[in-house]
Amino acid sequence: MRRGAPRNLKTVVLGVTGASGARFARCALQMLESDERVGKIHLVISGAGLKVLRSELDLTVSRTETLATALAARPVSKTELLLDSDIGASIASGSYHHDGMIILPCSTGCLAQIAHGFSQTLIERAADVCLKERRKLILAVRDTPLSRVHLQNMLLAQEAGAEIFPIMPSYYHQPRTIEDLVTQFCCRVLAHLGLDQAVQFRWEGEKPAPKTKITR
Ligand SMILES: Cc1cc2nc3c(=O)[nH]c(=O)nc-3n(C[C@H](O)[C@H](O)[C@H](O)COP(=O)(O)O)c2cc1C
Repeated sequence: MRRGAPRNLKTVVLGVTGASGARFARCALQMLESDERVGKIHLVISGAGLKVLRSELDLTVSRTETLATALAARPVSKTELLLDSDIGASIASGSYHHDGMIILPCSTGCLAQIAHGFSQTLIERAADVCLKERRKLILAVRDTPLSRVHLQNMLLAQEAGAEIFPIMPSYYHQPRTIEDLVTQFCCRVLAHLGLDQAVQFRWEGEKPAPKTKITR
């Protein structure tokens, strides 16, 4: 039985771990849900991730069935929530096809596990599978300041094939709200999965300075 997306549509794995940045996870899930090129989203939230979602988004859900809807803040139709403890889930095997995994936000703890090949949870195992199968793995690491250990782990993971995409929002698009910041960052992440978003701001070079009239 085929459990992924219908043919020609993308299947994406979204891991949410216990770093600050719940709004980024919400925005990415909303964008993936509303993207016609995406047919299936496997969502996995770590225990610490859930704790952070609860505190940053005031989520009050107690039942796992309603968690994806609560995170997206709207009904979801393509998202399948997998338990982080379910090491037997589809995405734990390299034989299950998908088009890439985003961990957003990615805790420094999760980064360390991935960098050193420990696959104790489903998120860690699915990330490890991406590396061995040479699939896209995007790690939106967040913490500040960063220790030498964090920096070394980022380098290790990058050398193993992951893309390090720290939650460092941009400002050149002149954001007015937190939503503007979050949206532009999520657009950049999805573009790296081949899912360019129409709402993404694109820098097209500096505007020429207005000509000043020289009076003699
Ligand atoms: C409110 C809150 C915010 C946190 N923020 C961060 C963070 O920004 N970055 C980080 O690496 N860890 C952060 N942590 C710590 C992680 O949640 C903790 O290391 C956890 O064990 C990570 O587990 P996980 O990778 O399985 O989600 C935070 C914890 C809490 C409760």
